[in-house]
Amino acid sequence: MSEVKIYSDTAQLAQGAANEIKRIAQSAVSQSQRFTIALSGGSTPKTLYGLLAEETWRAQIPWQQTHVFWGDERHVSPSHLDSNFRMANEALLSKLGLPPGNIHRITGELADPASAAHEYEQELKNFFNLSANQAPRFDLILLGIGADGHTASLFPGTAGLREREHLCVANWVEQLSTWRITLTLPVLNNAANVMFLVTGADKAHIVHSIVEGEERELYPAQLVQPTSGNLLWLLDSTAASR
Ligand code: 6PG
Repeated sequence: MSEVKIYSDTAQLAQGAANEIKRIAQSAVSQSQRFTIALSGGSTPKTLYGLLAEETWRAQIPWQQTHVFWGDERHVSPSHLDSNFRMANEALLSKLGLPPGNIHRITGELADPASAAHEYEQELKNFFNLSANQAPRFDLILLGIGADGHTASLFPGTAGLREREHLCVANWVEQLSTWRITLTLPVLNNAANVMFLVTGADKAHIVHSIVEGEERELYPAQLVQPTSGNLLWLLDSTAASR
């Protein structure tokens, strides 16, 4: 099932996203005594993470039963300004008092990004108790989208986009001349819930292309089609303006 919700501005979108996270988290904890979420990076989620860190929201989400993962990470240390971990930690995680074992960081600081990807794949296999060729089923994966239609660190034309065996790969992004570590489509498409958060006029054209575009223009974000999960697009009015 996929759904598009449009909000007047980023503050309203953050409220909407927080409500969805609360709903999914409470359902997951009541069913399996835990909530597994993969956070997205970039700048869009900052408003949401800051809202979730506020007292009123902090009390509504079962954080002590929550395990936090990332959809992708840059090839940098956790203290680097570009680190997705650093952004989420500063805006939210450092204020929650989570048991350290509940935070599953991608080790982007490793000199060899392939080692970081392998480590993370092992972390996923251990945590989700996966058999060979089995993908984890996250309760929720948050995603953003780039103006080129990339999501997580699955950029157009990159090898990571074609990966169907590994759960996590090091992905060389020629467009940025950098390595990224990213979950792969088999993981994204096995999630119980995937939620895209998209704000800003600079995303209006890509949102239009994906929602209205012809099939031939297959952007990475369009390949996120959860096999048996819910797909939710939360847009602010500028991102939805076309
Ligand atoms: C990352 C994200 C990436 C992001 C988009 C949108 O590591 O950068 O995972 O997929 O969601 O690039 O980024 P903005 O929110 O900054 O526009």
